[in-house]
Amino acid sequence: MSSLYPVSDAASPHPDSQQPLRAELAAGLLAATAHTAPKYFYDAVGSLLFEAICQLPEYYPTRTEAAIFSRHLAEMAQAIGPGGTLIDLGAGNCAKAALLFPHLHPEQYVPIDISLEHLRSAVQHLQQRFPHIEMTALGLDLSLPWRLPSEVRSDQRLFFYPGSSIGNFHPDQAALFLRQLRAACGKDGGILIGVDLLKDRQLLHAAYDDGLGLTAAFNLNLLRHVNRVLGSDFEVGQWQHQACFNADLSRVEMHLAARSDLVVSWSGGRRNFARGERIHTENSYKYTVARFLELLEMAGFGRAAYWSDPQDWYAVFYAKAI
Ligand code: AVJ
Repeated sequence: MSSLYPVSDAASPHPDSQQPLRAELAAGLLAATAHTAPKYFYDAVGSLLFEAICQLPEYYPTRTEAAIFSRHLAEMAQAIGPGGTLIDLGAGNCAKAALLFPHLHPEQYVPIDISLEHLRSAVQHLQQRFPHIEMTALGLDLSLPWRLPSEVRSDQRLFFYPGSSIGNFHPDQAALFLRQLRAACGKDGGILIGVDLLKDRQLLHAAYDDGLGLTAAFNLNLLRHVNRVLGSDFEVGQWQHQACFNADLSRVEMHLAARSDLVVSWSGGRRNFARGERIHTENSYKYTVARFLELLEMAGFGRAAYWSDPQDWYAVFYAKAI
């Protein structure tokens, strides 16, 4: 059945279900400064490119976070306590959570990802390794309003949000998102979250404009994903990857700049881009420890514990609901 069709994340049995996405994309492309949401990076090719980026020497966040977990996991587990439900936000291949299981001993594991498809095989595999943990995979777009179904147990919920994905939110949105997590985790819950820290601009720039051009490919590939969802006619060769650190706003920005004057069309719309005109594709906010502690407190969490690497490039925070 499904093997008759080309494999694509955008392929949908209900094309109409894509209508809100198309409207959102068109509105972003027609805005004064054209922009797209970061979720469009992650089609099949984009997800593979992101996994490759995480292995690059320039992209320090992944390995720095992994080192913090491997060094401090016992202490973290002590602070968190055993049992409860581990809710993994943006779980992907579930590898990061799997490292926590032998220390945290959760009773239930709830991986959440925008693509339920991707989760299924990872969870099947994991269930064999950890037969005593109840596993419930959920497909949710966390950038839209969401709520947890009743299969998710309500006591001792720990929201696990690694990878500094929180950095994609504007700080006001991040505060709202954290507040939602605070509300969803009840009185005895908490949050374990990885956050990329503010650092030297050269290091930041290299992480988002690597020597092999994988981040450039990751950024450009978004245009192909947009073409499939919107039916637009972007040509990747007409665009150039740009990454810059915006110190005033404490964020790395990624853009795609038109290499010449050009027109992009889709059913129901078109836009002219002048040479050099840009589409803003991502923000990746960088925090100081003090600023992030403040954000957690504003969201209604208690005073957090945190662990960082010797260079203070990255930090993992644990905060209880009360
Ligand atoms: C997945 C949002 C944490 O901001 O560093 C990597 C995405 N973009 N390289 C990040 C990303 C370009 C990444 N996050």
